[in-house]
Amino acid sequence: MILLTGGAGYIGSHVCMALLDAGLDVVAVDNLSNSNKASLERVQSICGRSLVFRHADIRDEAAIYDILRCCGVTAVIHLAGLKAVGDSNVQPITYYENNVLGTMRLVSAMTKAKVKTLVFSSSATVYGIPTYLPLDEKHPLGPTNPYGRTKLFIEEMLKDLHRSDDEWRIGILRYFNPVGAHESGLVGEDPLGVPNNLLPFVAQVAIGRRDKLTIWGNDYDTPDGTGIRDFIHVVDLASGHLSALRHLKEPGLLTVNLGTGAGSSVLDVVRTFEAVSGRPIPYAIGERRAGDVAICYADPTLAERVLGWKSTRSLAQMCSDHWCWQSKNPDGYRGAEHPERSSDF
Ligand SMILES: NC(=O)c1ccc[n+]([C@@H]2O[C@H](COP(=O)([O-])OP(=O)(O)OC[C@H]3O[C@@H](n4cnc5c(N)ncnc54)[C@H](O)[C@@H]3O)[C@@H](O)[C@H]2O)c1
Repeated sequence: MILLTGGAGYIGSHVCMALLDAGLDVVAVDNLSNSNKASLERVQSICGRSLVFRHADIRDEAAIYDILRCCGVTAVIHLAGLKAVGDSNVQPITYYENNVLGTMRLVSAMTKAKVKTLVFSSSATVYGIPTYLPLDEKHPLGPTNPYGRTKLFIEEMLKDLHRSDDEWRIGILRYFNPVGAHESGLVGEDPLGVPNNLLPFVAQVAIGRRDKLTIWGNDYDTPDGTGIRDFIHVVDLASGHLSALRHLKEPGLLTVNLGTGAGSSVLDVVRTFEAVSGRPIPYAIGERRAGDVAICYADPTLAERVLGWKSTRSLAQMCSDHWCWQSKNPDGYRGAEHPERSSDF
Protein backbone atom coordinates (compact mmCIF):
# COMPACT_ATOMS: atom_id res chain seq x y z
CA MET A 1 0.00 0.00 0.00
CA ILE A 2 1.39 3.40 -1.02
CA LEU A 3 0.53 6.53 0.98
CA LEU A 4 0.15 9.48 -1.39
CA THR A 5 0.08 12.86 0.35
CA GLY A 6 -1.56 15.67 -1.62
CA GLY A 7 -3.32 12.90 -3.56
CA ALA A 8 -6.40 14.95 -4.48
CA GLY A 9 -4.31 17.71 -6.07
CA TYR A 10 -3.31 18.25 -9.69
CA ILE A 11 -0.16 16.13 -9.79
CA GLY A 12 -1.38 13.81 -7.02
CA SER A 13 -4.47 12.69 -8.93
CA HIS A 14 -2.28 11.79 -11.94
CA VAL A 15 0.28 9.96 -9.76
CA CYS A 16 -2.62 8.09 -8.21
CA MET A 17 -3.70 6.85 -11.65
CA ALA A 18 -0.15 5.76 -12.48
CA LEU A 19 -0.01 3.75 -9.23
CA LEU A 20 -3.45 2.17 -9.63
CA ASP A 21 -2.74 1.31 -13.29
CA ALA A 22 0.46 -0.42 -12.14
CA GLY A 23 -1.60 -2.61 -9.79
CA LEU A 24 -0.51 -0.87 -6.58
CA ASP A 25 -2.90 -0.02 -3.76
CA VAL A 26 -3.18 3.61 -2.71
CA VAL A 27 -4.27 5.55 0.35
CA ALA A 28 -4.52 9.21 -0.60
CA VAL A 29 -4.25 11.78 2.19
CA ASP A 30 -5.22 15.39 1.60
CA ASN A 31 -6.53 18.28 3.70
CA LEU A 32 -8.34 19.58 0.58
CA SER A 33 -6.94 23.09 1.14
CA ASN A 34 -6.29 23.40 -2.60
CA SER A 35 -8.27 20.56 -4.13
CA ASN A 36 -11.55 18.73 -4.41
CA LYS A 37 -11.92 15.03 -3.72
CA ALA A 38 -14.08 14.71 -6.84
CA SER A 39 -10.69 14.32 -8.58
CA LEU A 40 -10.18 11.01 -6.75
CA GLU A 41 -13.71 9.83 -7.47
CA ARG A 42 -12.93 10.32 -11.15
CA VAL A 43 -9.55 8.60 -10.78
CA GLN A 44 -11.39 5.53 -9.48
CA SER A 45 -13.81 5.48 -12.39
CA ILE A 46 -11.04 5.95 -15.00
CA CYS A 47 -8.88 3.18 -13.48
CA GLY A 48 -11.78 0.88 -12.60
CA ARG A 49 -10.22 0.36 -9.16
CA SER A 50 -10.91 1.80 -5.76
CA LEU A 51 -8.53 3.64 -3.49
CA VAL A 52 -8.68 4.74 0.12
CA PHE A 53 -9.11 8.46 0.83
CA ARG A 54 -8.36 10.02 4.22
CA HIS A 55 -9.15 13.67 4.83
CA ALA A 56 -6.17 14.56 7.03
CA ASP A 57 -3.37 17.06 7.42
CA ILE A 58 0.25 15.95 7.17
CA ARG A 59 1.02 18.13 10.20
CA ASP A 60 -1.21 15.82 12.28
CA GLU A 61 1.47 13.28 13.16
CA ALA A 62 -0.87 11.01 15.14
CA ALA A 63 -3.37 10.82 12.28
CA ILE A 64 -0.61 10.03 9.77
CA TYR A 65 0.86 7.39 12.08
CA ASP A 66 -2.57 5.72 12.37
CA ILE A 67 -2.98 5.70 8.60
CA LEU A 68 0.50 4.23 8.09
CA ARG A 69 -0.19 1.43 10.57
CA CYS A 70 -3.84 0.71 9.81
CA CYS A 71 -3.42 0.66 6.02
CA GLY A 72 -0.19 -1.37 6.04
CA VAL A 73 1.73 1.32 4.14
CA THR A 74 5.15 0.32 2.76
CA ALA A 75 6.15 3.55 0.97
CA VAL A 76 5.14 7.21 0.87
CA ILE A 77 4.96 9.57 -2.10
CA HIS A 78 4.86 13.05 -0.61
CA LEU A 79 3.32 15.79 -2.72
CA ALA A 80 1.28 17.72 -0.14
CA GLY A 81 2.37 21.33 0.06
CA LEU A 82 1.63 24.93 -0.76
CA LYS A 83 3.10 25.90 -4.12
CA ALA A 84 2.38 29.52 -5.11
CA VAL A 85 5.65 31.45 -5.41
CA GLY A 86 4.03 34.92 -5.14
CA ASP A 87 1.91 33.91 -2.17
CA SER A 88 5.00 32.54 -0.42
CA ASN A 89 6.56 36.04 -0.51
CA VAL A 90 3.47 37.40 1.26
CA GLN A 91 3.03 34.58 3.79
CA PRO A 92 6.46 32.96 4.22
CA ILE A 93 5.79 31.49 7.66
CA THR A 94 2.62 29.79 6.44
CA TYR A 95 4.75 28.15 3.74
CA TYR A 96 7.49 27.05 6.16
CA GLU A 97 4.88 25.78 8.59
CA ASN A 98 2.93 23.82 6.02
CA ASN A 99 5.75 22.50 3.85
CA VAL A 100 8.74 22.14 6.19
CA LEU A 101 6.99 21.40 9.49
CA GLY A 102 4.47 19.22 7.62
CA THR A 103 7.31 17.13 6.17
CA MET A 104 8.99 16.89 9.60
CA ARG A 105 5.79 15.50 11.12
CA LEU A 106 5.25 13.14 8.21
CA VAL A 107 8.80 11.79 8.47
CA SER A 108 8.47 11.43 12.26
CA ALA A 109 5.33 9.36 11.81
CA MET A 110 7.10 7.26 9.17
CA THR A 111 10.06 6.69 11.48
CA LYS A 112 7.76 5.52 14.28
CA ALA A 113 5.85 3.25 11.91
CA LYS A 114 9.16 1.95 10.44
CA VAL A 115 8.19 3.01 6.92
CA LYS A 116 11.47 4.20 5.41
CA THR A 117 10.77 4.61 1.70
CA LEU A 118 9.92 8.13 0.56
CA VAL A 119 9.55 9.89 -2.80
CA PHE A 120 9.44 13.66 -2.40
CA SER A 121 8.24 16.28 -4.88
CA SER A 122 10.82 19.00 -5.05
CA SER A 123 11.04 21.66 -7.72
CA ALA A 124 13.37 23.23 -10.26
CA THR A 125 12.94 26.44 -8.23
CA VAL A 126 15.68 25.10 -5.91
CA TYR A 127 18.22 26.03 -8.61
CA GLY A 128 17.36 29.74 -8.59
CA ILE A 129 19.05 31.78 -11.32
CA PRO A 130 20.80 29.45 -13.79
CA THR A 131 24.54 29.94 -14.18
CA TYR A 132 24.56 27.44 -17.06
CA LEU A 133 22.01 25.47 -19.08
CA PRO A 134 20.62 22.89 -19.22
CA LEU A 135 20.24 22.55 -15.47
CA ASP A 136 21.73 19.29 -14.25
CA GLU A 137 21.49 18.04 -10.67
CA LYS A 138 24.98 19.37 -9.85
CA HIS A 139 23.99 22.95 -10.63
CA PRO A 140 24.42 25.21 -7.56
CA LEU A 141 21.27 25.69 -5.50
CA GLY A 142 19.92 29.13 -4.60
CA PRO A 143 16.15 29.56 -4.62
CA THR A 144 14.98 33.15 -4.90
CA ASN A 145 11.73 32.91 -2.92
CA PRO A 146 10.35 31.32 0.30
CA TYR A 147 8.50 28.56 -1.61
CA GLY A 148 11.74 27.42 -3.25
CA ARG A 149 13.55 27.62 0.08
CA THR A 150 10.96 25.32 1.69
CA LYS A 151 11.82 22.75 -0.99
CA LEU A 152 15.55 23.23 -0.49
CA PHE A 153 15.30 22.94 3.32
CA ILE A 154 13.26 19.76 2.97
CA GLU A 155 15.84 18.31 0.56
CA GLU A 156 18.61 19.09 3.08
CA MET A 157 16.57 17.60 5.93
CA LEU A 158 16.02 14.38 3.96
CA LYS A 159 19.74 14.16 3.18
CA ASP A 160 20.54 14.49 6.91
CA LEU A 161 17.94 11.86 7.69
CA HIS A 162 19.56 9.48 5.22
CA ARG A 163 23.04 10.20 6.64
CA SER A 164 21.76 9.40 10.13
CA ASP A 165 20.11 6.12 9.12
CA ASP A 166 21.12 4.47 5.88
CA GLU A 167 18.10 2.17 5.86
CA TRP A 168 16.15 5.05 4.34
CA ARG A 169 15.32 4.91 0.63
CA ILE A 170 14.68 8.44 -0.57
CA GLY A 171 13.93 9.78 -4.04
CA ILE A 172 13.96 13.56 -4.48
CA LEU A 173 12.27 14.55 -7.74
CA ARG A 174 12.86 18.06 -9.04
CA TYR A 175 9.90 18.85 -11.29
CA PHE A 176 10.16 21.42 -14.03
CA ASN A 177 6.80 22.85 -15.30
CA PRO A 178 3.99 20.28 -15.17
CA VAL A 179 1.09 20.97 -17.56
CA GLY A 180 -1.61 19.07 -19.46
CA ALA A 181 -4.15 16.63 -18.16
CA HIS A 182 -5.20 13.00 -18.40
CA GLU A 183 -6.21 12.11 -21.96
CA SER A 184 -9.80 11.35 -20.84
CA GLY A 185 -10.32 15.03 -20.03
CA LEU A 186 -11.87 13.94 -16.71
CA VAL A 187 -8.95 14.84 -14.44
CA GLY A 188 -6.81 17.97 -14.69
CA GLU A 189 -5.60 21.13 -13.01
CA ASP A 190 -8.30 23.09 -11.21
CA PRO A 191 -6.74 26.09 -9.46
CA LEU A 192 -8.76 27.91 -6.84
CA GLY A 193 -8.97 31.62 -7.63
CA VAL A 194 -6.68 33.28 -10.15
CA PRO A 195 -4.28 30.73 -11.67
CA ASN A 196 -0.59 31.29 -10.87
CA ASN A 197 0.68 29.12 -13.71
CA LEU A 198 0.61 29.81 -17.44
CA LEU A 199 -1.39 26.90 -18.87
CA PRO A 200 -4.42 27.12 -16.55
CA PHE A 201 -4.56 30.86 -17.19
CA VAL A 202 -4.38 30.37 -20.97
CA ALA A 203 -7.07 27.67 -20.75
CA GLN A 204 -9.37 29.96 -18.73
CA VAL A 205 -8.94 32.71 -21.33
CA ALA A 206 -9.75 30.21 -24.09
CA ILE A 207 -12.95 29.09 -22.32
CA GLY A 208 -14.00 32.71 -21.68
CA ARG A 209 -13.56 32.78 -17.89
CA ARG A 210 -10.90 35.51 -18.25
CA ASP A 211 -10.57 38.31 -20.81
CA LYS A 212 -6.90 38.13 -21.56
CA LEU A 213 -3.54 36.74 -20.55
CA THR A 214 -0.78 38.98 -19.22
CA ILE A 215 2.69 37.98 -20.41
CA TRP A 216 5.18 39.14 -17.82
CA GLY A 217 7.95 40.64 -19.92
CA ASN A 218 8.79 40.37 -23.64
CA ASP A 219 12.27 41.85 -23.44
CA TYR A 220 14.19 38.82 -22.22
CA ASP A 221 17.23 37.64 -24.14
CA THR A 222 15.30 34.87 -25.91
CA PRO A 223 14.30 34.49 -29.60
CA ASP A 224 10.82 36.03 -29.12
CA GLY A 225 11.60 38.01 -25.94
CA THR A 226 9.34 35.93 -23.65
CA GLY A 227 10.54 33.55 -20.93
CA ILE A 228 11.44 29.97 -21.77
CA ARG A 229 10.47 27.03 -19.55
CA ASP A 230 10.64 23.25 -19.65
CA PHE A 231 6.97 22.21 -19.81
CA ILE A 232 6.38 18.56 -19.04
CA HIS A 233 3.16 16.58 -19.50
CA VAL A 234 1.71 15.69 -16.10
CA VAL A 235 1.15 12.08 -17.21
CA ASP A 236 4.87 11.75 -18.07
CA LEU A 237 5.72 13.34 -14.73
CA ALA A 238 3.42 10.92 -12.91
CA SER A 239 5.10 7.91 -14.50
CA GLY A 240 8.44 9.23 -13.18
CA HIS A 241 7.15 8.58 -9.63
CA LEU A 242 6.52 4.95 -10.44
CA SER A 243 10.04 4.65 -11.89
CA ALA A 244 11.47 6.28 -8.74
CA LEU A 245 9.53 3.93 -6.48
CA ARG A 246 10.82 0.90 -8.42
CA HIS A 247 14.36 2.24 -8.15
CA LEU A 248 14.06 2.54 -4.36
CA LYS A 249 14.10 -1.23 -3.86
CA GLU A 250 17.59 -0.71 -2.39
CA PRO A 251 18.51 1.79 0.38
CA GLY A 252 19.96 5.05 -0.89
CA LEU A 253 19.17 8.63 -1.75
CA LEU A 254 18.67 9.81 -5.30
CA THR A 255 18.02 13.36 -6.53
CA VAL A 256 16.81 13.68 -10.13
CA ASN A 257 15.31 16.23 -12.48
CA LEU A 258 12.00 15.40 -14.12
CA GLY A 259 11.85 17.56 -17.23
CA THR A 260 11.87 17.12 -21.00
CA GLY A 261 15.20 18.81 -21.72
CA ALA A 262 13.53 21.22 -24.18
CA GLY A 263 12.45 24.78 -23.56
CA SER A 264 9.36 26.49 -24.99
CA SER A 265 8.64 30.20 -24.76
CA VAL A 266 5.43 31.69 -23.39
CA LEU A 267 4.51 32.75 -26.93
CA ASP A 268 5.18 29.19 -28.22
CA VAL A 269 2.65 27.97 -25.66
CA VAL A 270 0.08 30.62 -26.58
CA ARG A 271 0.36 29.85 -30.30
CA THR A 272 0.25 26.09 -29.77
CA PHE A 273 -2.79 26.42 -27.52
CA GLU A 274 -4.56 28.60 -30.11
CA ALA A 275 -3.82 26.01 -32.79
CA VAL A 276 -5.12 22.99 -30.86
CA SER A 277 -8.16 24.74 -29.35
CA GLY A 278 -9.15 26.88 -32.32
CA ARG A 279 -9.72 29.72 -29.83
CA PRO A 280 -7.91 33.07 -29.85
CA ILE A 281 -5.85 33.90 -26.74
CA PRO A 282 -5.76 37.70 -26.42
CA TYR A 283 -2.80 38.89 -24.39
CA ALA A 284 -1.15 42.02 -23.05
CA ILE A 285 2.49 42.53 -22.16
CA GLY A 286 3.20 43.38 -18.51
CA GLU A 287 6.37 44.27 -16.63
CA ARG A 288 8.83 41.47 -15.81
CA ARG A 289 8.02 39.82 -12.46
CA ALA A 290 10.68 40.00 -9.77
CA GLY A 291 12.51 36.68 -9.46
CA ASP A 292 11.53 35.34 -12.92
CA VAL A 293 14.46 34.03 -14.94
CA ALA A 294 14.76 34.28 -18.74
CA ILE A 295 15.42 30.62 -19.51
CA CYS A 296 15.13 27.45 -17.48
CA TYR A 297 15.18 23.89 -18.74
CA ALA A 298 16.37 20.55 -17.46
CA ASP A 299 19.10 18.15 -18.27
CA PRO A 300 17.00 14.97 -17.82
CA THR A 301 19.76 12.47 -18.65
CA LEU A 302 20.26 11.26 -15.07
CA ALA A 303 16.60 10.21 -14.82
CA GLU A 304 16.91 8.32 -18.08
CA ARG A 305 20.16 6.61 -17.07
CA VAL A 306 19.24 5.71 -13.49
CA LEU A 307 15.45 5.35 -13.60
CA GLY A 308 15.01 4.37 -17.25
CA TRP A 309 12.46 7.18 -17.46
CA LYS A 310 11.99 9.91 -20.03
CA SER A 311 9.13 12.11 -21.13
CA THR A 312 7.45 11.32 -24.44
CA ARG A 313 4.61 13.81 -24.91
CA SER A 314 4.95 16.94 -27.09
CA LEU A 315 3.92 20.52 -26.33
CA ALA A 316 0.98 20.11 -28.74
CA GLN A 317 -0.18 17.06 -26.76
CA MET A 318 0.18 18.98 -23.48
CA CYS A 319 -1.94 21.85 -24.82
CA SER A 320 -4.54 19.64 -26.44
CA ASP A 321 -5.00 17.48 -23.30
CA HIS A 322 -5.19 20.63 -21.16
CA TRP A 323 -7.82 22.07 -23.52
CA CYS A 324 -9.80 18.81 -23.52
CA TRP A 325 -9.96 18.94 -19.68
CA GLN A 326 -10.85 22.66 -19.61
CA SER A 327 -13.52 22.45 -22.32
CA LYS A 328 -15.18 19.40 -20.72
CA ASN A 329 -15.01 21.04 -17.27
CA PRO A 330 -15.36 24.81 -17.71
CA ASP A 331 -15.77 25.22 -13.93
CA GLY A 332 -13.26 22.56 -12.96
CA TYR A 333 -14.53 20.09 -10.35
CA ARG A 334 -17.04 22.48 -8.80
CA GLY A 335 -20.33 20.70 -8.36
CA ALA A 336 -18.82 17.36 -9.43
CA GLU A 337 -18.49 15.82 -5.96
CA HIS A 338 -20.64 12.80 -5.21
CA PRO A 339 -23.38 14.18 -2.94
CA GLU A 340 -23.77 11.01 -0.88
CA ARG A 341 -20.12 10.35 -0.18
CA SER A 342 -18.95 10.81 3.37
CA SER A 343 -15.67 12.64 3.91
CA ASP A 344 -13.43 9.56 3.69
CA PHE A 345 -13.82 6.61 1.33
N1 LIG B 1 2.51 22.31 -10.23
C1 LIG B 1 3.75 22.75 -10.30
O1 LIG B 1 4.06 23.61 -11.15
C2 LIG B 1 4.83 22.18 -9.42
C3 LIG B 1 6.18 22.34 -9.79
C4 LIG B 1 7.16 21.83 -8.96
C5 LIG B 1 6.82 21.19 -7.78
N2 LIG B 1 5.50 21.07 -7.44
C6 LIG B 1 5.17 20.42 -6.17
O2 LIG B 1 4.36 19.29 -6.41
C7 LIG B 1 3.45 19.08 -5.35
C8 LIG B 1 2.05 18.94 -5.90
O3 LIG B 1 1.74 20.12 -6.63
P1 LIG B 1 0.36 20.31 -7.40
O4 LIG B 1 0.64 21.16 -8.58
O5 LIG B 1 -0.33 19.02 -7.56
O6 LIG B 1 -0.40 21.21 -6.33
P2 LIG B 1 -1.87 21.05 -5.71
O7 LIG B 1 -2.09 22.25 -4.86
O8 LIG B 1 -2.84 20.74 -6.77
O9 LIG B 1 -1.67 19.75 -4.81
C9 LIG B 1 -1.14 19.80 -3.51
C10 LIG B 1 -2.13 19.10 -2.61
O10 LIG B 1 -1.64 19.09 -1.28
C11 LIG B 1 -2.72 19.36 -0.39
N3 LIG B 1 -2.14 19.89 0.83
C12 LIG B 1 -1.48 21.05 1.03
N4 LIG B 1 -1.07 21.15 2.30
C13 LIG B 1 -1.46 20.01 2.93
C14 LIG B 1 -1.33 19.53 4.26
N5 LIG B 1 -0.72 20.26 5.20
N6 LIG B 1 -1.84 18.33 4.57
C15 LIG B 1 -2.48 17.59 3.62
N7 LIG B 1 -2.65 18.00 2.36
C16 LIG B 1 -2.14 19.21 2.02
C17 LIG B 1 -3.62 20.33 -1.15
O11 LIG B 1 -4.95 20.34 -0.71
C18 LIG B 1 -3.49 19.80 -2.59
O12 LIG B 1 -4.50 18.83 -2.87
C19 LIG B 1 3.63 20.28 -4.41
O13 LIG B 1 4.44 19.88 -3.33
C20 LIG B 1 4.32 21.30 -5.26
O14 LIG B 1 5.12 22.17 -4.50
C21 LIG B 1 4.50 21.53 -8.24
